[in-house]
Amino acid sequence: MPAAMLPYACVLVLLGALTAEAAGAAGGGHLRWEPRCQHPLPDRMPSTAVLPPRLDGPWISTGCEVRPGPEFLTRSYTFYPNRLFRAYQFYYRDPFCQEPAHSLLIKGKVRLRRASWVTRGATEADYHLHKVGIVFHSHQALLDVTGRLNQTRAGQDCSRRLPTTQAWLPGALYELLSARAEGDCMAALGFTMHELSLVRVQRYLQPQPGAASQLVEELYLGDIHTDWAERQQYRPTGYQRPLQSALHHVRPCPACSLVARSDVRHPPALPAPPALPLRLGGRWVSAGCEVRPAVLFLTRAFAFHGPGRSWEGRYRHFSDPACRRPTFTVLAAGRYSGGAPSARVRGATELVFEVTRAHVTPMDRVTTAMLNVSEPSSCGGPGAWSVGTERDVTATNGCLPLGIRLPHVEYELFKVEHDALGQSLLFIGQRPTDGSSPDTPEKRPTSYQAPLVLCGGDAGDPSGPPQRRPAPPEAPRGGDPGPRVAPLPLLPLVLGAAFLRWL
Ligand SMILES: *[C@@H]1O[C@H](CO)[C@@H](O)[C@H](O)[C@H]1NC(C)=O
Ligand SMILES: *[C@@H]1O[C@H](CO)[C@@H](O)[C@H](O)[C@H]1NC(C)=O
Repeated sequence: MPAAMLPYACVLVLLGALTAEAAGAAGGGHLRWEPRCQHPLPDRMPSTAVLPPRLDGPWISTGCEVRPGPEFLTRSYTFYPNRLFRAYQFYYRDPFCQEPAHSLLIKGKVRLRRASWVTRGATEADYHLHKVGIVFHSHQALLDVTGRLNQTRAGQDCSRRLPTTQAWLPGALYELLSARAEGDCMAALGFTMHELSLVRVQRYLQPQPGAASQLVEELYLGDIHTDWAERQQYRPTGYQRPLQSALHHVRPCPACSLVARSDVRHPPALPAPPALPLRLGGRWVSAGCEVRPAVLFLTRAFAFHGPGRSWEGRYRHFSDPACRRPTFTVLAAGRYSGGAPSARVRGATELVFEVTRAHVTPMDRVTTAMLNVSEPSSCGGPGAWSVGTERDVTATNGCLPLGIRLPHVEYELFKVEHDALGQSLLFIGQRPTDGSSPDTPEKRPTSYQAPLVLCGGDAGDPSGPPQRRPAPPEAPRGGDPGPRVAPLPLLPLVLGAAFLRWL
């Protein structure tokens, strides 16, 4: 969904959780919270950060992961007390991680450095790679990789290190990087381990029916840039889907033991998920505090109404990584269309979201003061802002100081899955890492944000359907990486906080 709008760090969007009063939907109705669907969900246990992070031990994917491209993979990383690590990345041909294509063995050393000055709550790390090897699980996988390498000069040099199809040995490990191997095959393959340069460890207790709560430990590593061309240079400021401790993971987790038992020659093949239609009805909210690249903390909530294909989203923004100190809330609403299966990302559905209405609520003094001094015609028209009071910014075509532009269109990618407990999860496309918005079909995402959880209501419930709010409108700009509009007053907040963080 459209989240988008906000430029720069701040803005981005997120969907929030709000629900709108159905009656008012047509005319700028009055949006209110749905008590059962506060975000994050009240029954979720709060997570605590482990500082400094303790990486030792085995960490695994809890399901099939999707990276921009798309790439489908599972990961199994082990960190040792002497700072060495061994990582397996298992790549697949299919979006359910059932048909392994090739696997990487990555060995190296990682050293924690200091609290991040950019992403609060994260720790920066340095890493060094000692060895990277690749194992192909089929002829086709070898052809796919060499075919891709052959498209560039550096790639052609690299592909000489790989066997011809006649010489290929199943199970053989081919070195891409080692003390002996020359040149850099990594970039040609689009591979980096920059994810190791930003880490966060969190733990929480998962309630177990009729038993003691279980400890769950999560390892958040840096995000992967959505633009393939930027991957090699990009230093993460957000996270990808977390790994979990192989010893302390959510239960049940059918993928966990499969991933934990695998090695580079024996990749896990995950069980087939049920095929689920995309039913959007109901309220969907963030399961926890979300972090976006460029220093954005938020929670989202959405509601979709089937019959009129309208939607609403509430994005609550915060200045801290626990989402306790709110800065402002954006409610966005509009219509959506489309619904064709994605050709690029199997199993996903393509939708187009329009954001035609938006409301803004400043939640702290800094944001309120900023809006107070902004040009009235740029955000909400004449009149003072006050903390906690919502104003409709539709008539001023959004709110420029917050990067919200109306009307706004976004090309989206959606999928619905069930987790192991049968809970419905809604995956919405990952926002472009450069802070822009997917406002053309070419910019449609190929990967997802953290899933939203269904918190109540059914699709098409005619009585007061919850509505979701869309994301905010897009950032001002048309696609090229031009300068972004930074909500300046928010920057001091962020920077000020940086000095308080632990060192
Ligand atoms: C890649 O290029 C090499 C050398 O030019 C060639 O032998 C090989 O067949 C090519 N592989 C593919 C998959 O195109
Ligand atoms: C915003 O402006 C109003 C009216 O001028 C004023 O009462 C209020 O204190 C201002 N709020 C902030 C946070 O500056």
